Amino acid sequence: MARLVGGAGCSHVPAVGAAIDKGKTAEPYWAPYFAKLERARAWMADVDPDVCIVVYNDHANAFSLEVIPTFALGLADEFPPADEGYGPRPVPVVDGHPELAWHLAELLILDEFDLTLVNEMPVDHGLTVPLSVMFGQPEAWPCRVIPLCVNVVQYPPPTGHRCYRLGQAIRRAIDAFEGDERVVVFGTGGMSHQLQGERAGLINLDFDAAFLDGLVADPDAIAGIPHVEYLREAGSEGIELVMWLVMRGALGPQVREVYRATHVPTSNTHNGLLILEEA
Ligand code: DHB
Ligand code: FE
Repeated sequence: MARLVGGAGCSHVPAVGAAIDKGKTAEPYWAPYFAKLERARAWMADVDPDVCIVVYNDHANAFSLEVIPTFALGLADEFPPADEGYGPRPVPVVDGHPELAWHLAELLILDEFDLTLVNEMPVDHGLTVPLSVMFGQPEAWPCRVIPLCVNVVQYPPPTGHRCYRLGQAIRRAIDAFEGDERVVVFGTGGMSHQLQGERAGLINLDFDAAFLDGLVADPDAIAGIPHVEYLREAGSEGIELVMWLVMRGALGPQVREVYRATHVPTSNTHNGLLILEEA
């Protein structure tokens, strides 16, 4: 059976991707942030997953505002980096895992999670930046990737509770897969940030710290946070944090916090990184 070997929470700030792509990671603005990635990258190299299920949101790149699936699963052999207006990022094409992805589709839909099935899709910074954060700049990504998109750009996004239960269902499906793959689940986006309006630039260190504490120790309580609380406390884009609950749901009730780092400034976001293993 396939085996879940860990979970990673990771922000997806586009400027982090640009700093890596343009060789700016040693500059004074960026160096303190990149120094905090080393332990997480060492953990990832150590657990050496065969496949990562990356829970992320598309930012109107693969899906226009004409069609916005709540949950969309990538089944393709490969996923090219999206052109978000400046040309595609100079990162490798993402290799999918159609066998495991179709298995997930079947078990999750029969488990009453009505996923949209995606056979062709470019992947934007929501997915490629967390890969760069965790893997650096390899010639090819060191593992296969199953993209799982969550709508957090158009109201109403799914609830935190729904995301948490989706993670639990993903875990049941991983456990039932007849391969010997080692799997890491990523929850991406967040933490607090707001990119527009009067509160643009909002960052809430206290909310984010309490969110991470709760995600580790009391995920049922965190799953109950209503949308309006994310909006008020973490800003309009802070709702991306519901995707971390999918990752947390995939892990068992008790987890060990392997590593946590947060950082300001990286563009407009309180940047978070969390590595969890089952206790
Ligand atoms: C930023 C953060 C995001 O999550 C995003 O999708 C775009 C920009 C930022 O902090 O600049
Ligand atoms: Fe985002």
